[in-house]
Amino acid sequence: MKFYAITAAMAVLVAGTFLACDKGAKEIKIGGVAPATGEAATFGASTKNGFDMAVAEWNGKGGVLGKQVKMAFADDKGDPAEAATVWTKLIEQDKVCAIVGTVMSKCSLAGAPISQASKIPMISTSSTNPKVTLVGNYIFRVCFIDPFQGTVGAKFAFEDLKAKKAACIFDVGNDYTKGLSEFFKAKFTSLGGEVVGYEGHATGTTDFKAQLTKVLAAKPDMLYVSDYYNDVALIAKQARELGFKGPLVGGDGWDSPKLVEVGGAAVEGCYFTNHYSQDNTTPLVQNFVKAYSAKYGGAPDALAALGYDATNIMLDAINKAGSTDGDKIREAMTKEDFTGVTGQIKFDGDRNPVKSAVIIEIKGGKQVYKTTVNP
Ligand code: PHE
Repeated sequence: MKFYAITAAMAVLVAGTFLACDKGAKEIKIGGVAPATGEAATFGASTKNGFDMAVAEWNGKGGVLGKQVKMAFADDKGDPAEAATVWTKLIEQDKVCAIVGTVMSKCSLAGAPISQASKIPMISTSSTNPKVTLVGNYIFRVCFIDPFQGTVGAKFAFEDLKAKKAACIFDVGNDYTKGLSEFFKAKFTSLGGEVVGYEGHATGTTDFKAQLTKVLAAKPDMLYVSDYYNDVALIAKQARELGFKGPLVGGDGWDSPKLVEVGGAAVEGCYFTNHYSQDNTTPLVQNFVKAYSAKYGGAPDALAALGYDATNIMLDAINKAGSTDGDKIREAMTKEDFTGVTGQIKFDGDRNPVKSAVIIEIKGGKQVYKTTVNP
């Protein structure tokens, strides 16, 4: 009786292992997740380009562990419920041994517990909310986190823009935008500034006049808008319609060609913090920009760069682990010290890299690199 119980438990364990990752496969299969459709679709397109370019380069050099790499890509649609569904599918059906992605913090937060429970390591490309990697020891990210990003934004606003009064606008249904506004507010206040307005809006809103009217009544020098590009463009336009002339400052969620396409003159003279600038003159970045532009017909944005770095570091860890075993990959990841196009990537105890941020100005309808800020 006892014996059967033990063998049954072992069979489940063994089946579970094979379910999670097919070790006898002829190829190394990893998952890739990004929002190819939905509220952040341009993020997904760039990120996927970065994934594909890294995989193609590894395969060109002979692959990983002597095998070709195959990426199973899934669209999370920018929706946490969909993210959970595709995470399970990648692990159980596609039998991937690691997952690269995803972009939005609210979606990574839905995928992370599934990766953790299945012991399939994941590395988010651009989810900056601190809670993501705290889900567990199989969860990594390749980008900096929002306490740092909010601090950089607040210091820039206070010291460089000489703003004394700020107002924040954010999406109440999004972990990233809510968190980033909180971190900005804490730093701006500690520097001696005053946050005179602090208004949330619902996800999917297109009319921000109620929030704007309220915060503008307190006469801020600037607006900190921690939203994604589509909301930012509309908020900027509506703020100008209401007569606001000061700068808007925000975070990495602004990084899309759509920001200027939709926002036009309303976003001119505004600033955001980001992960990388294509204007960085190091040969590593310039070679990447050249190769990416040749392949995709346009320069890589931060999302593409992070997708590229995240895939490279995960494949490097699998190679160094000498195995597709989740525990061994995880171990190898903790030892990485990787020179990426978005900077040096070495994980701290919470599996976050300690990296610099850049400040980008919207000038003449273009993103112009202003400065780099170190942690
Ligand atoms: N940082 C955002 C989040 O955590 C996602 C994002 C990253 C968006 C980079 C654009 C560029 O949700």
